[in-house]
Amino acid sequence: MFLVSADVAEAVAVLRRGGLVAFPTETVYGLGADAANPAAVARIFAVKGRPRNHPVIVHLGEATAVKAWAAEVPADAWTLAEAFWPGPLTLILPRAAHVPDAVTGGVGTVGLRVPDQPLALELLDAFGGGIAAPSANRFGRVSPTTAAHVRADLGPDVDVVLDGGPCAVGVESTIVDLSRGVPRVLRLGGIGVEALSEVLGHPVEARVALGAAGNDAQVESGPGEPAAPPAPGTLPSHYAPEATVEVVAADAVADRARTLLAEHRRVGVLAPRRIEGLPAGTEALPPAGVAAAYAQCLYQRLREADRRGLDVLLAVPPPETGIGAAVADRLRRAASTA
Ligand code: TXA
Ligand code: MG
Repeated sequence: MFLVSADVAEAVAVLRRGGLVAFPTETVYGLGADAANPAAVARIFAVKGRPRNHPVIVHLGEATAVKAWAAEVPADAWTLAEAFWPGPLTLILPRAAHVPDAVTGGVGTVGLRVPDQPLALELLDAFGGGIAAPSANRFGRVSPTTAAHVRADLGPDVDVVLDGGPCAVGVESTIVDLSRGVPRVLRLGGIGVEALSEVLGHPVEARVALGAAGNDAQVESGPGEPAAPPAPGTLPSHYAPEATVEVVAADAVADRARTLLAEHRRVGVLAPRRIEGLPAGTEALPPAGVAAAYAQCLYQRLREADRRGLDVLLAVPPPETGIGAAVADRLRRAASTA
């Protein structure tokens, strides 16, 4: 059975019998399973085509539920939860003993977040437990920000898709590791690094480098545990459309487009605002705006590049502050062929 609906009771029934429910969050759509059911979580990995040792985030209906999933909740975690939950922030904490290895990929920590989306909160409330969910796309592809994206990408492999309309934030949650003392950002996302430091009253480590081995955010393992690969959202070639993405400065777009058009490539442009003087034949996608607006339409625009059959998308990033830093990060990962 496969259906797109807004029927939370049906979605809860699917979760209880070990099925998969795609549901909206404020960031992107998630592919959810009962986080306490290892066989159900294993189905997520099979459907996504994602390596088994990549951990998934457990979604909770309220902040107090972290006590049931984390062995230890440091003061900084409560401070961040109070300031940003429900919201696009994932906290990495030492796992409670009962958390299935299927969820954590065998590492000593667990990722937790309370999403800020009414249908998601209704689902979590009605289900009562934690919902393990990565983004509802095949491994390495563009994350879905509408129910239609999920259906197009996963088809009948998901039992039900809850339709909550387009996602308000549009890029994934910011991931902060609080399991090893100094808070460290593992993935840029909906909450800016500046806002995190401001709320904590001290700096947050945020070297989220692109790809360079040893520099990239890694899921590290504790003593005696298997080493895990880099978190998938931090792999350089993640979030990629079919079109080749090139990150360029606004004043370099026209020249680069001219060169590519001369090579008979189909060229599109994605930029915060309209760029004047583009050569004829260049396909300008609608202006993306800056910061929050750009984030909200980013994945939609990457899909549009493919719908138009573009060979190359020239992408001008927004200023890299707040959520703009996450947009620039995703564009660079989409551009990377590593
Ligand atoms: O906004 C989001 O976070 C969305 C929505 C659905 O909540 N979810 C999402 O999930 O982006 P996913 O699986 O596509 O990305 C989760 C990232 C991965 O890079 C994963 O490796 C990392 O979180 N992660 C999860 N648990 C972790 C842990 N215990 N330690 C380190 N990284 C972890
Ligand atoms: Mg993902």
